[in-house]
Amino acid sequence: MRFSPKWWRLPVALLFASCMCTAQKLSDPEVEQRVSDLLQKMTLDEKTGQLTQFAGNNPQTMEMIKQGKVGSLLGVLGADEANAAQRAAVEGSRLHIPLILGYDVIHGYRTVFPVPLASAGSFDPELIERAERMAAKESTASGVKWVFAPMVDIARDPRWGRIVEGAGEDPYLGSVIAAAKVRGFQGKDMSDPDSVVACAKHYVAYGAVEGGRDYNTVDISEQLLREVYLPPFHAAVDAGTGTLMSAFQDLNGVPASANHHTLTEVLRGEWRFNGFVVSDWSATHELIAHGAAANDAEASFRALTAGVDMDMVDGAYISSVPALVQSGKLPASVVDEAVRRILRIKFKAGLFEHPYADPQREKTDILTRENREVARKLAFESMVLLQNKNNLLPLNRKQTIAVIGPLADDQSSQLGPWAGNGEAADAITPLQAFRQKMGNDHVIYAKGVDIPSFESGLAAGVAAPAPASATGVKNTESETKPASIDDAVAAATKADVAVLFVGELAGMSGEASSRASLELPGDQMKLIDAVIATKKPVVLVLESGRPLNISWAPDRVSSIVQAWFLGVEAGNAIAHTLLGDASPSGHLALSWPRSVGQIPIYYNHKATGRPIAPDRWHTGYLDSPSTPLYPFGYGLSYTTFHYGSLKVDPRVSANGTLHVSAEIENTGKREGAEVVQLYMHDRVAPTSRPVRELKGFQRVTLQPGEHKTVEFTVKGNDLGSYDPGMHWIVPTGTYDVWVAPDSASGVQGAFEVE
Ligand code: NOJ
Repeated sequence: MRFSPKWWRLPVALLFASCMCTAQKLSDPEVEQRVSDLLQKMTLDEKTGQLTQFAGNNPQTMEMIKQGKVGSLLGVLGADEANAAQRAAVEGSRLHIPLILGYDVIHGYRTVFPVPLASAGSFDPELIERAERMAAKESTASGVKWVFAPMVDIARDPRWGRIVEGAGEDPYLGSVIAAAKVRGFQGKDMSDPDSVVACAKHYVAYGAVEGGRDYNTVDISEQLLREVYLPPFHAAVDAGTGTLMSAFQDLNGVPASANHHTLTEVLRGEWRFNGFVVSDWSATHELIAHGAAANDAEASFRALTAGVDMDMVDGAYISSVPALVQSGKLPASVVDEAVRRILRIKFKAGLFEHPYADPQREKTDILTRENREVARKLAFESMVLLQNKNNLLPLNRKQTIAVIGPLADDQSSQLGPWAGNGEAADAITPLQAFRQKMGNDHVIYAKGVDIPSFESGLAAGVAAPAPASATGVKNTESETKPASIDDAVAAATKADVAVLFVGELAGMSGEASSRASLELPGDQMKLIDAVIATKKPVVLVLESGRPLNISWAPDRVSSIVQAWFLGVEAGNAIAHTLLGDASPSGHLALSWPRSVGQIPIYYNHKATGRPIAPDRWHTGYLDSPSTPLYPFGYGLSYTTFHYGSLKVDPRVSANGTLHVSAEIENTGKREGAEVVQLYMHDRVAPTSRPVRELKGFQRVTLQPGEHKTVEFTVKGNDLGSYDPGMHWIVPTGTYDVWVAPDSASGVQGAFEVE
């Protein structure tokens, strides 16, 4: 269907009919031609409008849309709402340019999947891609055509609340997952009616904020930027992401949202990205607080010339860009280029052909059984078994189980901190699932304690008590009976085994949720001590958005499971796993610190001149081991695996391909899935190299006694690193290689790069 003013006057019903059929795809030259044609017709105000995004659709905004002064809205949800706003642009504005409607779909729209830090631990990019495909389908059914995801920030500091939104600490895993998510969101073509435009964020190095304090400063070397923080963004760009979001924080002295080096030299120059960049929320205006601009005009000038094309919510561009151009301070070509990038994505996303959402799809495509099944599968694969003394797990179904703890029946927290348009009532809690599977007689529940929210005590630095039910969810018994440790002790005493659900409320991680301590909030430790004192075997199930301090736990409880926040199917996934319907197969996407004092801690650290060793004159602490409590990549199963027969090509060239293989055997009595990991280490290079770097992984499922040769191929060029002049090189010499179940063990060999 061709774009012409007459077309827009067709009855709305007909437009809905058109939006379900896949539009004729425009070729790249056709897109460029259409963009140029349109650009020629635009006034300066209309151009600036395209660079402007506002939140919501109040009457004032609707008026501005009709005047062509808004290019995008965020947070307008529901097909009817979205179509009303879209109609103002498409039918009400002079040039009929559609809006692009965005929303944060971080781990699902209505079907909430495990939080990203958890799902990264599945090491299952295919399943993650499927989940994002479903999230795209649900989002578009609700009128959302653009998601502010994937969040691909590498994070090495669990004090930072936003560690929960990303894929953890490793640039290779983060890159594989970033690409999978972009593919999932955008599908075969971003113009398909059930595809959304992805937005890789927050560009860049937001995860390196000092002290884990959100929005804080980042000052890192160019080498660290290129080797650790940029790769997932590069992978997202290579996978075709339509947009990126510039970050809030300062980067090496220049705020990320005014950083010409990263936004233009690297992103456009080196990576050839031709989509658009949106600022984070008010990040243009915040350049004033950074001390990088005196007013909105200066801020807009800096952001736009650095490469931020669209301005999120603060109105800085719309209020100052026309005057900047008219006064000759800002070249009109800079504005034209930004508009061109935005229109290019609008055309590629098919918005001109099918701007409206089909309200029928809201009834059929959201929270479907199939979507829940994928949410459950991903939840199964994301849970990490950290310890299982005497094979206490899986539990014996004939026993009586005490289900204890403030998170056992908290629906809201199962969803996690950034649950899209999810509803707490959709979530299955562990208590509900245990009861459903075992019957009420075999399950005794006690909440034990409430978790105090930090919020009202923030300024004073004290935690103010507020029940978990303050999250707005009606839970079962916790509503009627105050939590009591005595009840928990009584429940454990009557039962054969106690399963403790402790951790953080969902709102304790995510944006603006940094913590100075990793201790369990409130009186949870008192509850744990009291339950352990009953001498019943204890399974500790942790629900949290970060690794908490559990250094005390390995000696005091039998089994430890990190369940993160697993989404709508959390309860089913947890109960079914603990009862043995599935064997855990998640692995940690980060290094688990023993204490806050060890942070930052990550497996791919440098050796130093005095590598970690058990004597004083080597890098480390007097009062703590240097190693983490659990290493990156770690995760147990109900069965065991043996690694052997490592084979590696003796030599490879920079242009060649290296083959590595190892034999993995299931040496236990149950079927199990293992995440087999490939690590490398370059012994001598111009810049000091990490002690290990992940270069590949595979999930394999093995029956008892079965063994399999797991093979990896790595391109010689991918073994390289940056030299001190920041050129990518592949140093010759000896490299170590491991095929391993985690970053601290495995079968080892060596090879030469020639
Ligand atoms: C601020 C957050 O930093 C960002 O991740 C999010 O996409 C925007 N707000 C829009 O909600």
